[in-house]
Amino acid sequence: MSGKILIVDDEKDMLALLERILSGKMAHSITITDDPLQVPDLLKRNNYEVVITDLKMPQCNGIQILEMVKQKDETTAVIIMTAYGSIESAIEATRKGAYDYITKPFRKEIILHVVEKAINWQRLQKENGYLREKLDGKPQFPALLGGSAAMERLHGQIDRIAKTSATVLITGESGTGKELVARAVHVHSLRKARPFIPIDCSTIPETLIESELFGHVKGSFTGAIRDKKGLVEEANGGTLFLDEIGDLSVAMQVKLLRLIQEGEYKAVGSNTLRKGDIRFIAATNQNLQEQIKNGQFREDLFYRLNVINIHIPPLRERMEDIPVLTHHFLEKYGVIHGKKAKGISGEALDHLLLRDWPGNIRELENVIERGVIMATGDILLEEDLLPTDSLAPPRTGPAHHLDDIFTMPFKEAKDRLIEEFQTQYIARALARHGGNVSQAARDSGVKRQYLHRLMRETNLASKAFRKPDSPE
Ligand SMILES: Nc1ncnc2c1ncn2[C@@H]1O[C@H](COP(=O)(O)OP(=O)(O)OP(=O)(O)O)[C@@H](O)[C@H]1O
Ligand SMILES: [Mg+2]
Repeated sequence: MSGKILIVDDEKDMLALLERILSGKMAHSITITDDPLQVPDLLKRNNYEVVITDLKMPQCNGIQILEMVKQKDETTAVIIMTAYGSIESAIEATRKGAYDYITKPFRKEIILHVVEKAINWQRLQKENGYLREKLDGKPQFPALLGGSAAMERLHGQIDRIAKTSATVLITGESGTGKELVARAVHVHSLRKARPFIPIDCSTIPETLIESELFGHVKGSFTGAIRDKKGLVEEANGGTLFLDEIGDLSVAMQVKLLRLIQEGEYKAVGSNTLRKGDIRFIAATNQNLQEQIKNGQFREDLFYRLNVINIHIPPLRERMEDIPVLTHHFLEKYGVIHGKKAKGISGEALDHLLLRDWPGNIRELENVIERGVIMATGDILLEEDLLPTDSLAPPRTGPAHHLDDIFTMPFKEAKDRLIEEFQTQYIARALARHGGNVSQAARDSGVKRQYLHRLMRETNLASKAFRKPDSPE
């Protein structure tokens, strides 16, 4: 990898030596100067990736050069050269932001190696800055909120698998957070400085998906007026997120399988095999096993993708997460719509805890956004949340997924219903009191110890009901 390098040293012999080493094998583009006072001017006119500077020079020292360089562009890597006797000050320089230091005299291999590393580092810095800008102010680490047992399991799973390069299949109903989890795996991985490239297999037309993924060469089809890079190439070194993988045609499944298995692919219209270093994460809300039976999905591809499976449970199975998510969306849409949405009434929260949420978190998010817009005061009321259409009526009576209890054996049905009732009762009592067990117990007319026992039985944790900013 060649780069643009500035070398500053008052000793002409040293400059000549470094220039010879660095412009040799790696073909770096080198500027040298024996006058540190020229540096401000040089920096103004050029963008260097690496600056190598001597520490002790009569006119100005290396630390001052370091400061000038960093002031212009903090992603430039500065390497400090120092005589063996003054390592202390070189270390000091690294504390002030120098990338590394080398002691004189040095071996050719060492300088080549340090410069190579510095150029890589500098490019990663640039790319990180670019990614941050692309996310335009959104936090780089997407917050996966929720303190339910299910979410805690999920966090543990993400931590464990992020550092590997294993292929992951994320399953879950629509709106459960599959894309968010995929991004979380990427940002916790060693590939985080490289791109995360999502591709939605359900929205790209069949005829275009191959060139979208693998790129094409000029003239390979009408409209291919120049070579085009595919997403696979863009994702190199990073993560490719194959969303809605269940919608991929069988013909494309074969090509994808080859890419995953052998790391090889061909651009459309080209016979050259290309290689990619990619981590694959796929997601679907469909039942792939079912699709395999119907011949719509290849079994071999399924096993390749499903090396690790992350299943995200639907929101109705982790209703403890509702309060935290609600407060998060209140804040988010309060800012977006310029409203002071400070909180939510107890009745309104109850209402949210009673719904079935077929659209999961995305649906909750939409309901809160609409509520924030509708609200006249700074507290969200139940009427602000009522659907204006009757498409998603609030759930009344037992949850729909309990509909089949009337055909179950009596005892089993009774236990299921009681368990559901207890979970809902306790969740709502805790939600009303922001997770304060003593208050919830008093309000429900039971002893605190008894409530704790019920919470353990139903797997509810009080901290899941705390508002994000309330004290422990
Ligand atoms: N645990 C969570 N904490 C905070 N926000 C969440 C969480 N899970 C999901 N969301 C938000 O809910 C919305 C839907 O999430 P996402 O797009 O990841 O779901 P999905 O499973 O990919 O949905 P679909 O199947 O419809 O594509 C997004 O705005 C996301 O930020
Ligand atoms: Mg999605």
